Amino acid sequence: MDTSIVFVGGGNMATSLISGLRNADWAGDRITVIEPDEAKGEQLAKDYGVNTVAQADAQTLKADVIVLAVKPQMLREVAQGLVEPLGDHKPLFVSIAAGVPIAGLREWLGADHAYVRCMPNTPSLIGAGATGLYADDGVSDDQRKLADAILETAGVTAWVNDESLLDAVTATSGSGPAYFFAFMEAMQAGAIELGLDEATARELVLHTALGAARMAIESGDDPATLREKVTSPGGTTAAALEQYAEGDLNALVGRAMQAAANRADRLANELLDK
Ligand SMILES: NC(=O)c1ccc[n+]([C@@H]2O[C@H](COP(=O)([O-])OP(=O)(O)OC[C@H]3O[C@@H](n4cnc5c(N)ncnc54)[C@H](OP(=O)(O)O)[C@@H]3O)[C@@H](O)[C@H]2O)c1
Repeated sequence: MDTSIVFVGGGNMATSLISGLRNADWAGDRITVIEPDEAKGEQLAKDYGVNTVAQADAQTLKADVIVLAVKPQMLREVAQGLVEPLGDHKPLFVSIAAGVPIAGLREWLGADHAYVRCMPNTPSLIGAGATGLYADDGVSDDQRKLADAILETAGVTAWVNDESLLDAVTATSGSGPAYFFAFMEAMQAGAIELGLDEATARELVLHTALGAARMAIESGDDPATLREKVTSPGGTTAAALEQYAEGDLNALVGRAMQAAANRADRLANELLDK
């Protein structure tokens, strides 16, 4: 791949994307990481054969894509620091900073760049992520494909056609891993309550979660069909699921996701107001 990419920030998420890109045969000498922590930079150069610099300069920023991978609270200051070295170069900016709206990027970096905003999730760190993406006006089809190819190295990607839907993505896949962790915790506690030891409860619960997710992905059946297939009338699963219905699990999950989406919207406004 001849495209040149610059990562601004060489932390956890940038590292997992770089690892994915290198595994997908992107050339190390086409990837540069701007990372002020020199030890981190050296480690990245050693592990992945990429170029690293401690500070943005005009030469480094002459790339096709600039991935903004610093913490959201730092992005305003970091972005403003790119304006001068960037000059009139117009790369594609791909922001993975959670909750930072494109309005902020336009204000800090300039209104006439192409921007893609992404919402990855933590399993991206092990290549099993799910990322929602939104392309602003002015992003070409090729640039869209490029952003997709970069994020795809960390898992699956899904595009939304309205930036406000990234709040829904945040409430679904962004915060989603924690919902499943909480469910696993509850199931482990339930298994221990029923008499299993901790290690057995953990092993059975985690592999049940993995098996269920794999079946849902690989069978092509939707989760409702799979649930019905394992629920014999009057059987053990039916007895458990009746309790879910009584506690109105669907409404509870819906309320939790609405709360996450509302919070995402408020956090974005706080980041812009600062
Ligand atoms: N981790 C996830 O699962 C996840 C999920 C969704 C979205 N994201 C988003 O991904 C972004 C990065 O998250 P992360 O977990 O990778 O954070 P991180 O590990 O803290 O990485 C940020 C990196 O940026 C470096 N940095 C600080 N100031 C800089 C500057 N002026 N120029 C260039 N680099 C600078 C930091 O160096 P120092 O450590 O020396 O400060 C650090 O290495 C965040 O915006 C986050 O919202 C992450």
